[in-house]
Parts: sequence; C-alpha cells; structure tokens
Amino acid sequence: CVCVCVCVCVCVCVECSTHNTFHTELMDTRAARPFSFSFNTSDYRILLMDQDQGRLYLGSREYLVALDMHNVNKEPLIIHWPASAKRKGECQMTGKGRQGECANFVRLIEPWNRTHLYTCGTGAYQPICTFINRGWRAEDYLFRLVPGYVDSGKGKCSYDPKQENIAVLIDGNLYAGVHIDFMSTDAALFRTMGGRTAIRTEQYDSRWLNEPVFVQIQQIPDSAERNDDKLYFFFREKSLDSSGGASPSVLARNDEGGQKSLVNRWTTFLKARLICSVIGEDGVETRFDELRDVFIQPTQDERNPMVYALFTTAGSVFKGSAVCVYSMADIRNVFNGPFAHKHGHNYQWTEYTGKIPYPRPGTCPGGTFTPGIRSSKNFSDEAVNFIRAHPLMIHPVYPIHRRPLVVRTGVDYRFTALVVDQVDAVDGRYEVLFLGTDRGTVQKVIVLPKDPTNMEELTLEESRAPVKTMKISSKRQQLYVSSDAGLTQVSLHRCGVYGRACSDCCLARDPYCAWDGESCSAFTPSTKRRSRRQDVKHGDPLRQCRGFNKRLRETVQFGVEGSSTFLECQPRSPQASVKWLFQREGKRKVLTRVGGVLKTNHGILLKSLNQSDAGLYHCLATENNFKHTVARVALRILDRDIVLALTAQDEDEEPKTLQAGPQQQSSLVSTPFPPEIRLINQYCQSYWEQLSPKQQQQRKRTSRRHTEGQDQGLG
Ligand SMILES: *[C@@H]1O[C@H](CO)[C@@H](O)[C@H](O)[C@H]1NC(C)=O
Ligand SMILES: *[C@@H]1O[C@H](CO)[C@@H](O)[C@H](O)[C@H]1NC(C)=O
Ligand SMILES: *[C@@H]1O[C@H](CO)[C@@H](O)[C@H](O)[C@H]1NC(C)=O
Ligand SMILES: *[C@@H]1O[C@H](CO)[C@@H](O)[C@H](O)[C@H]1NC(C)=O
Repeated sequence: CVCVCVCVCVCVCVECSTHNTFHTELMDTRAARPFSFSFNTSDYRILLMDQDQGRLYLGSREYLVALDMHNVNKEPLIIHWPASAKRKGECQMTGKGRQGECANFVRLIEPWNRTHLYTCGTGAYQPICTFINRGWRAEDYLFRLVPGYVDSGKGKCSYDPKQENIAVLIDGNLYAGVHIDFMSTDAALFRTMGGRTAIRTEQYDSRWLNEPVFVQIQQIPDSAERNDDKLYFFFREKSLDSSGGASPSVLARNDEGGQKSLVNRWTTFLKARLICSVIGEDGVETRFDELRDVFIQPTQDERNPMVYALFTTAGSVFKGSAVCVYSMADIRNVFNGPFAHKHGHNYQWTEYTGKIPYPRPGTCPGGTFTPGIRSSKNFSDEAVNFIRAHPLMIHPVYPIHRRPLVVRTGVDYRFTALVVDQVDAVDGRYEVLFLGTDRGTVQKVIVLPKDPTNMEELTLEESRAPVKTMKISSKRQQLYVSSDAGLTQVSLHRCGVYGRACSDCCLARDPYCAWDGESCSAFTPSTKRRSRRQDVKHGDPLRQCRGFNKRLRETVQFGVEGSSTFLECQPRSPQASVKWLFQREGKRKVLTRVGGVLKTNHGILLKSLNQSDAGLYHCLATENNFKHTVARVALRILDRDIVLALTAQDEDEEPKTLQAGPQQQSSLVSTPFPPEIRLINQYCQSYWEQLSPKQQQQRKRTSRRHTEGQDQGLG
C-alpha cells in the first residue's frame, strides 16, 4: 500500500514537479549571473577587460566599478565620481540636462602603467580625466582616484553623453575619435598627451569626417617596423553622396602633421567605405549601412586580424541586421588602390587618374617605404596638398565571400553589439558569434559550413534595455554584457540545457559541448579523450552515438481512472519538433484521444483517464531528419474504487504515519491484500528497481514527496 501512495503521488504530482525540475535545471546551469549590487546609476559600459588582474572595469553615470571576472558579485570595488554641484548647476543654466545629462558619465578607462588607470567622463558637459590607483595585484583590493588630480578631458571624451567616443592609450599618447566641443558640431580624430603636439583631422571639412558616430579603434601593425604601425578608426557617417555609410579610416601613429599646410593635422589620414549587402531572390539589393559594432579577432599573424562588423539597415520601418567579415588584406588593397576625386562641392566622386605624389599618401614617415623621411613635416608640399583634398579611396571594401556571414531580416529587433569566439572542437575550429539585441537578449550563433547558422537565444534579465557593450574572455569562458540597466555574466558553456542523451548533445551542434559517455558537458581540447562524442559539422547522432542510445528505458507510470496524468518529454535541443505515438496490443499509431491531449513544451497532459488509455507512449523528437525517441512511458490505469478505498484508509492513519513511516510499512504488509493490490505492489517494485541510483538522486532533488515514498517503498 505504501507503494500505492507513491504511485498516486506520481500521477498527481508529476505536473508540478516537472516545473520544478525545469526551473532547477535552469538555475543549475548557472548560465547567467547578473551583477546584483544596486546603487543610483545607469548607462553601464564595460570599458576595459584586464585579463592579467582578472578584472573588468565598468563606467556608468557617476560611478566607476571594478569587478572580479570569475564572479562579478564577489566584492566589487566601487568609486563614486560625480561632477561637482557647482558644475551641475552651470550645466543646467545652459539649458542642458533635461534628460539628466548634467552628470559625469564615465566613458573611458585605459591602462596607464602597472599600477594606474586613466579615466575620463563627460563631467556635466565639461569633460574631465584623472588617474585611478588600482595597486599592483588584484588581491590588493585597491581602487581609488588619485586625490586632487584632475585633467581636462577635451579631445578625449565627449561633452554630450549621447555622443559616442572611442579612445586608446598607446605609449602615453591618447588617440581618440570624439566630438570636441559643447555643441557636438566639431568631430575629430585626435591625438593628445605624451608631450607631443596635439594632432587632429581637418576641422569642418566634410570630405574628412561628415557627422561621424565613432564605433571602434584598433592599432594594427603593417610590418615588423614599428614606424609602420597604423591606427584604424571605425565609424559611420552621413554619406557624401547617395551611397556608403560605414568607414574604416587609417592613420600613421607617428604622424606629426604638415610643415606649411596641414599644420597639426594628420597627413596620413585615409578612409574607405565598408560594404555589407545581400541580393534578394528578386534581385533587389538590401544594404546594411549603419555600422554598429566592430570586433577584431586576432590571428597567429598580428598584422592580419579578422574584422567582424555588425551593421543594421538605416531606415526605421524595415528592421534588419547583418554581420560581415573583412580581411586586412582586402582593406589594405583598397587603401593601396585609386583615390576618389571631386571638383568643387557639387560634383560626384570619381576615380583620380592623375599622378600620385611621393611618398604615396598614407605612407608612414620613417617606415619601410620612406627610410629617408624621418617626420611627416618632411613630406613634400605636393604630397600634403594632395592628401588634404583626397582622403577617400574610390573602391569600397567588400566582405569575405562578398556576402554577410549572418543576416536577420523580417524580425522586430536589431543587433546592437557583437563579440566572436573561436572554438576548437573535435572536427575543427568554429566561429561562435554572440550578438546583443535592442530588446535585451543575446543570441549565440554557431557558424556551420553548410546551413548558415545554428542559433540559441539567451534572455539575460527581465529588463528590455538594449545591449550596449559586450566583452568575451575565451580564457575564462565567460561573456559579459552591459545595458543601461546593468551587467550580466554569462558562461559560454551551457551544455546542461541539452540534456543527458548522447543524441541530444550531438544534435545541438554546439562546439562548446560534447557527450562524455555520461552527460553533455563542456568540451576543452586539452582534455580531449577518444571517447568524447562530438560532431559539430554534421550533427549526425547515428554515427556519433551508436550504442549510446539504448540507455533510454521504458518508464512505468500509473494513472487513476477519472483523474489526469502528465507524461513528461523534454528534448533539450531547441530545434526539435515533437510527436507522440501510442502503442497498444503491438500496434503503434499517432496519438489521438477522445478525451483530448494538452500539449506543452515539457510533455502532454491526458485528462480524465479510463482503461482504454493504458498502453505504451512514445515521445519522438525530429531534427535534421533524424528521429529519436526521447521518452517511452508505459501507462497503467488504476481502478478508481480501489484507490479511493486505499487513500481513505491512509487518511485515517495519517497523524501516525507522518511520524513513523517504516512502521506503517510493516503494519500494512502484514494485512492480507486482495489480488489486485498485490499486482500494484509488483508494478511499483519493478518501477523503482528500474531507476538507477543516479536517477533516484535526481528525483530526490526535484520532488520531496517522491523521495519519501521511494525510500519507504524500497525499504
Ligand atoms: C539618482 O540620481 C539622479 C540623477 O543624478 C537624481 O536625480 C535622483 O534624485 C537620484 N535618486 C536617488 C534615490 O538618490
Ligand atoms: C603610474 O602613474 C602614476 C600617475 O602618473 C604615478 O603616480 C605612479 O607612480 C606610476 N606607477 C608606476 C609603477 O610607474
Ligand atoms: C626635415 O624637417 C626638419 C624640420 O622640420 C628640417 O630641419 C630638416 O632639414 C628636414 N629634412 C629633410 C631631409 O628635408
Ligand atoms: C473511455 O473513454 C472514452 C471516451 O471518453 C470512451 O469512448 C470509452 O468507451 C471509455 N472506455 C472505457 C473502458 O470506459
């Protein structure tokens, strides 16, 4: 009879315990961990990731935050850095600040030396910078502003928090793409600090910069000669003619400006357009013109990183996003190609076919190609004048394969941020893209050779705030995502969500995961074992999981006549479609039922059971044309009258049995059973014996009531 209790529990409680199981598993994967310290701030941006100290540096409205990369909630270090009350008052007087802009928005944190960081904020429309002392080691738990030190932030940080700025500190020089005035009309690529004269782009010349929005900055060497080092700025701007929008521009780091003309202006500035478009089946080209984010993926050759660029469509009606990948070789070819030329202001840009002066514009002084010219001040007048009028290359840069890697159209969201990871799996190296969206989620896109992509979407937090910045640490296998509302840490491995079957693990085609003979777990090439099953390329469970799918056992479940029961089936691969088959007297058919079947994501609910529901239920998941059985449940129906009689007996004894379980068992065993009860007893016994000890462990966690009955049933 104790067993009957158990069985009734199974029938009644499976539905609720299913939810528990599901919930527990989501928590167990520890996939996402939000930064849970709340203070009065907003506009979180991840500004610097320090792999050596294992720290992540965040800027937000009036705060600087240093976080532990392992666990963002472990003793965060927080600095309050507000604009002064006086300055805020002055800012309000100018009519700004209706949306709270009269505050110090921290927008730059760069490493300065072994112990100090350099930081800048908007300072309530008067940019300010200072040093942060963060000690020699992370264990020092030191994070504070250098007292009494404030620097002007002009040319380093925007005045207006709505304007993006980008910056990098190299050898004590700060290179920035920034609006350098109160009204945000004067945008420039600027070099300041380090004792050299400040250098900038030509002022108010739309041929150089035309209402730019700065996105990314990166130093990329051209050769082994340091004098050839170049800085690449990525930005979008108002197109000069009808086409184009996104540009990389390039500068020589050691540019000193011109001698007579272009004094204190870059003499090596060049820009080109990036193209990212698709041709539809109707032959119509969709252009993704608005550059949103750029991720530079290093390769073995430091001169040739891969450039991943995220674009969206320009219009507000048609929402579309795309990721295009560019090679440095293609970018350099365009910069080494013909220049664009324009007569006066109303003419189209055409290819310049005249003589190109020496040294060729864009060549670094003192580099491989100009050994005799030590400084840009020694460039000929002819060369300098040519550069001033010809900053643009005529040819655009096309992506690798001339098409985007990922395209999303016909959806109601846009991508806002991008990071890329390279994952070594058993069958090769895979690119995995993490794409933040404007509705506060992150999509993980696995790039597979044949079908374009395999996707999983992670929802980060309840807030719908668009993703603002993302950083990835392959070393720590973590992704960090920030929005206006906060920061979340996400583990790159989320293998638990694919379940425990070899075929599910295989079908998920996630290069981070492999089936180790027991479960779907994190795959690291260093712990490579021959028994690991992983097939990212084909996702072919027939080949990979041969001999491993027999583990699926038939489970026995009991239902009481007249009541409902829930049959659980959860394929973990997100792409699966599910079908139920019902088998009775050897014949297997698609499940149809007079009383109705309620389908849920976790299984089916059968209402109002009667004896005709007894039989074998198969849950079939189909993916990649591969069908596999996820669950096989033998449903037995208990006679309602007998169950009622038994539970009535239970209720009488309840106060005693709750305290003295084992005694209850012995007392009941000694009662003579009618034949049907003996049969039920046998069913229960075999049911529990079928469960391996491991499965019992899981059941213990997910349902207390199961556990009680089970312990008793097994003695
Ligand atoms: C939070 O900060 C904003 C802007 O600085 C301010 O207006 C608001 O009063 C602050 N709220 C609290 C609860 O301190
Ligand atoms: C780092 O720079 C700061 C600020 O200039 C200075 O005070 C400090 O002594 C420097 N530390 C080292 C180790 O050079
Ligand atoms: C280079 O410029 C410097 C001053 O700017 C001048 O003194 C020097 O003579 C120039 N050298 C050549 C080779 O033109
Ligand atoms: C079970 O229920 C179905 C429909 O609710 C009915 O057609 C069938 O006769 C019932 N069978 C038994 C054995 O009561």
